[in-house]
Amino acid sequence: MAAAAAVPLNIPVLELHDVYAGYGPFRAVFNVTFSIPPGNVLAMLGSNGAGKTTIARVASGLIKPSAGMVMIDGTDVTGWRPYRYARLGVIHATEGRSVFASLTVEENLSLTFRRSRGRAGVAAGLDEAYTMFPRLKERHRQLAGTLSGGEQRMLSLARVLVERPRLLIADELSLGLAPLIVDEVYATLATIREAGTTLLIIEQHVSHALGIADEVVVLAKGEVAYSGPASEVGDLHVRLLGGEEA
Ligand SMILES: Nc1ncnc2c1ncn2[C@@H]1O[C@H](COP(=O)(O)OP(=O)(O)O)[C@@H](O)[C@H]1O
Ligand SMILES: [Mg+2]
Repeated sequence: MAAAAAVPLNIPVLELHDVYAGYGPFRAVFNVTFSIPPGNVLAMLGSNGAGKTTIARVASGLIKPSAGMVMIDGTDVTGWRPYRYARLGVIHATEGRSVFASLTVEENLSLTFRRSRGRAGVAAGLDEAYTMFPRLKERHRQLAGTLSGGEQRMLSLARVLVERPRLLIADELSLGLAPLIVDEVYATLATIREAGTTLLIIEQHVSHALGIADEVVVLAKGEVAYSGPASEVGDLHVRLLGGEEA
């Protein structure tokens, strides 16, 4: 009985099949197909306007594809409302920092955990968050608005992480951050992956994304220009992203 209910290991957590999507009459992405197996990290790369955020919105249910199919853990979820994606454990994190600046680190975390786990679950949530991110423990009394940009993203990711998302879609979390801070954000993403979450990382910072990714999809003008293992990308991304000729 128990074995029959288990999700087979070879079923992707996220699968897009021939997806077309856009805004009104405007088509932003065409014929996009890719999948992410459980526990893997897929980096979606591409220059500004390539369609990366549109794909993130499709993968979290915020926009419905005009054609094609979206599957989560083997279930066809095409056209479902966003809250049903959220119930399946899909979280879409954007570069916008979702922390309350005038509350302390601990108050930010406590508010989230009280909502998701009830009053009795707050202490355990704080424990988990501080074990994963000792930096947040050091700063637990500090106002969130006075944290560095990287620490604020760490805080907003800690709030998400304790929910144990099945799939985290990280949309340009390094945008506008200094290189050292970007390292911190990527260390946070590595922690999330070690906790068992499958990741779709959307980036223009190619080298960071390639450092953590198993697979890579490059979007160009709304279409998949390349997909394959991160280890085989080599200098291909330089040409595909419109950098200098190789
Ligand atoms: N809310 C929107 N309304 C209309 N067009 C949009 C909207 N968001 C994005 N677009 C357009 O869709 C295309 C892809 O954008 P986007 O998915 O945001 O690309 P990226 O994230 O790769 O920069 C662009 O031409 C952009 O102008
Ligand atoms: Mg974008």
